[in-house]
Amino acid sequence: MEIIKTKAEMQKRAKELRKSGNSVGFVPTMGFLHEGHLQLAHRSIQENEITVMSIFVNPLQFGPEEDFEAYPRDSERDQLLAENAGVDILFMPDHSNIYNQEASFEIKVNKRTDVLCGKSRPGHFDGVSTILIKLFNIIIPDKVYMGLKDAQQVAVVDSLIHYFDFPIELITVETVRETDGLARSSRNVYLSDEERKEARQLYQALKLGETLIQNGERNPQIIIAKVSEYIKKNITGTIDYVEIFSFPDLTVLKSIERRIILALAVKFSKARLIDNILIEVEK
Ligand code: PAF
Repeated sequence: MEIIKTKAEMQKRAKELRKSGNSVGFVPTMGFLHEGHLQLAHRSIQENEITVMSIFVNPLQFGPEEDFEAYPRDSERDQLLAENAGVDILFMPDHSNIYNQEASFEIKVNKRTDVLCGKSRPGHFDGVSTILIKLFNIIIPDKVYMGLKDAQQVAVVDSLIHYFDFPIELITVETVRETDGLARSSRNVYLSDEERKEARQLYQALKLGETLIQNGERNPQIIIAKVSEYIKKNITGTIDYVEIFSFPDLTVLKSIERRIILALAVKFSKARLIDNILIEVEK
């Protein structure tokens, strides 16, 4: 596996790959890799000649009160995992290399961000979009691989790719879960033993919502109320949100129809966990 640490070197390599006609799959990450990231890499390896993974903890997408400093990092372990997964190029730039100029532009995302995590993390998706625009331009991938656990991120990146006319195909991959249903996340390490036991109930809460829909319930407010009640009964953490929207447009629905997202965020003592399921409803 090649490790590239500067954008100049990555751009040079990306140009060579283009010239030689190699298809490039790209897996953007902030490191502290887990099975979820590795699934994205596996899919990219299956579908492309070259797979590039980036590891960059992007300060622009963290709010002032958020966990940028404390975000888990383990570069040696990440390199090992990426190499064993079969990643061809690991792009690991540092902050001064990526943001090496005064910020003379500002990316502001106006759609799909005033709900879910965008509502409680103002500016988060502006930061995500800024770094992805940079990484897309540096790496010039044919396909980008993203996990559906961050479904709102997927929705924003889908519109980013279309709005800025990037010739990139967005490939989404199902959320990878622990055996008890907890979605894999780098932030799960923040949970206490007791919280970890409770956290499995998040997926159960989503499954309850899914069952209600499968049994014919079409009123989003009733489903949200029942899922919230289940979480309050089974989890000591506090609910940040339980919401239902159309997907990927993320618009409010009066009645459940077509493709919807049921999403939740719950704050534990040191971790805020998110999870969701996408449900297809036949008319
Ligand atoms: O999902 C993430 O890890 C990050 O938001 C991303 C896409 C790598 C951008 O920093």
